[in-house]
Amino acid sequence: MRSHCCGALRSEHAGTTVRVGGWVHRRRDLGGLVFLDLRDRSGMVQVSVGPEWSDPQAAERAQELRTEAVVLVEGVVVERPPEAKNPGMATGDIEVRATQLTIVSNPTDLPIPVWRTKGEAPPSEELRLRHRHLDLRRPDVQEPFLLRHRLLQEARRTLSELGFLEIETPILTKPTPEGARDFLVPSRVQPGRFYALPQSPQIYKQLLMISGFDRYFQVARCFRDEDLRADRQPEFTQIDIEASFVSPEDVQSVVEQVLVDQWAVADHQVSRPFTRLSYSEALERYGTDKPDLRFGLPIEDVTERVRGRGFKLFDEAISNGNRVRAVVAPGGAALSRKQIDRITEQARAEGLGGLATLKIQGDNTTGPLARLEGNLRELFSLGDGDLLMAAFGTDSVTSSGLDVTRRELIRLLELQPEQDHAFLWVVDFPMTETDPATGEETFAHHPFTSPHPDDIAGLRAGGLSGLRAMHYDVVYNGNELGSGSIRIHDPELQLLILEHLGISREESESRFGFLLRALRSGAPPHGGFAIGFDRVAMLLAGVDSIRDVIAFPKTTAARALFEDAPTQVSESELRQLGLQARDE
Ligand code: AMO
Repeated sequence: MRSHCCGALRSEHAGTTVRVGGWVHRRRDLGGLVFLDLRDRSGMVQVSVGPEWSDPQAAERAQELRTEAVVLVEGVVVERPPEAKNPGMATGDIEVRATQLTIVSNPTDLPIPVWRTKGEAPPSEELRLRHRHLDLRRPDVQEPFLLRHRLLQEARRTLSELGFLEIETPILTKPTPEGARDFLVPSRVQPGRFYALPQSPQIYKQLLMISGFDRYFQVARCFRDEDLRADRQPEFTQIDIEASFVSPEDVQSVVEQVLVDQWAVADHQVSRPFTRLSYSEALERYGTDKPDLRFGLPIEDVTERVRGRGFKLFDEAISNGNRVRAVVAPGGAALSRKQIDRITEQARAEGLGGLATLKIQGDNTTGPLARLEGNLRELFSLGDGDLLMAAFGTDSVTSSGLDVTRRELIRLLELQPEQDHAFLWVVDFPMTETDPATGEETFAHHPFTSPHPDDIAGLRAGGLSGLRAMHYDVVYNGNELGSGSIRIHDPELQLLILEHLGISREESESRFGFLLRALRSGAPPHGGFAIGFDRVAMLLAGVDSIRDVIAFPKTTAARALFEDAPTQVSESELRQLGLQARDE
């Protein structure tokens, strides 16, 4: 139907007869002369319908056109007179003088506008998601999807060149423990039984290694019923990788190659190898396992520096076995009382009792910590304008409190990043973590992660507590991009780990029997990784939420507004599935 795409037309086409099709982005009627901005995926072109060059019927139809009508236009490309050229538009040097115009469809239902005047606020996100087909018509909303497409092609290219095979694994499967709740799918043929949607292809990719595929990847859709945030969706996409006979460094090298190539697609040249920090160093210096290393402001242990200097709260805390830790913000003395109170409030929400401050302004040393005895500038290496914020408590509380403090200081002081792209490997994670809600010790990642070889003897002697895992995360500018590990390939070790996690041998056989059976059949050492692809696309597209790189995302309440899911189902459908809905 078309000879050209709208956005492709240029001066060189002047004099050519073309056929274009698209949506009427905007229509201006100058009485007799009608201008249309015609839009398709490639861009926009101005079409003019006028009595001198258009078929009379075309001129008539142009009067009936509503915005967002779909039209087919045949016409001649004409160079615009100099004063009419629009340098802000790729096709701004020309217009298409329509000889023929066909209305394919004239809309009757347009609940949100696609075209907006400059500066006009967009409709609410709820409205945009409810009418996502219209929202997605906007070029700026489409743009991240063009990038996402290129990133995915590049990931496939990189991994294929490295010898990885793309293999698909089931969606209707058995629960895979990744720490979230499962989405369950009832079986009609086997009433009372349920499939689970995969939280990740973890077990399958291990099985593929045991089958000898050596290197696997998949653009894997994963499903997790968990609390949603800007960087989380109940269904999301991983670039999932697994390889046999590999060390952590081998896996990391592949992941680095994939990521460096991804960044290059977005015109960012980044170098490898990435910086590395152990989990414990990351927590000690930044209070988090996903620090943003674009900025300095490390957390310092100031216990010895404040001990016995007349600050009672600190001395008490220290004698109770706590440490005092602090962050120094250059220029932070300029922050207002209100701003500091807000930071303190946020740190309190993380469990900190409070934050004690010390401000250096000219000759003045102010704040509660000014009471500390001694030369405080020297003691804490403070310069004019600096702000020190200190806290005491257990390490986990001071870590999360000072992590928030550091991030807020960076934000409020608008500190300039020392680099644009701070990639980081966080390694040597612990095997287990304490669930803050229940106080129970659970696996930090999935239970197939191998303990550090030097710690296996400790495992046989005691429990999992304090053991390091062969687990590694990639962090970029403070975002967790992905994680992976070397897996357990010894079935007895796997059973032992599961036992330490409170899963009996019988239960292990029932839940993970298919993996255990495979492990008993000759399993190579193997390991892998999963990159959170939506997060990569979000960061490279420069948008704030992964919803902006997912065509039909769910809301934070896990609802699909466009198609209105989840929905209730009929009694008869439930009956077929052997289910009964309870009214609650
Ligand atoms: P993990 O659970 O860390 O590891 O997931 C890997 C990466 O996937 C992304 N991610 C998400 N993205 C959007 N919405 C979500 N709800 C969501 N959950 C996770 C994150 C995360 O870093 N099987 C292991 C990988 C392995 O060991 O190979 C796994 O799934 O970017």
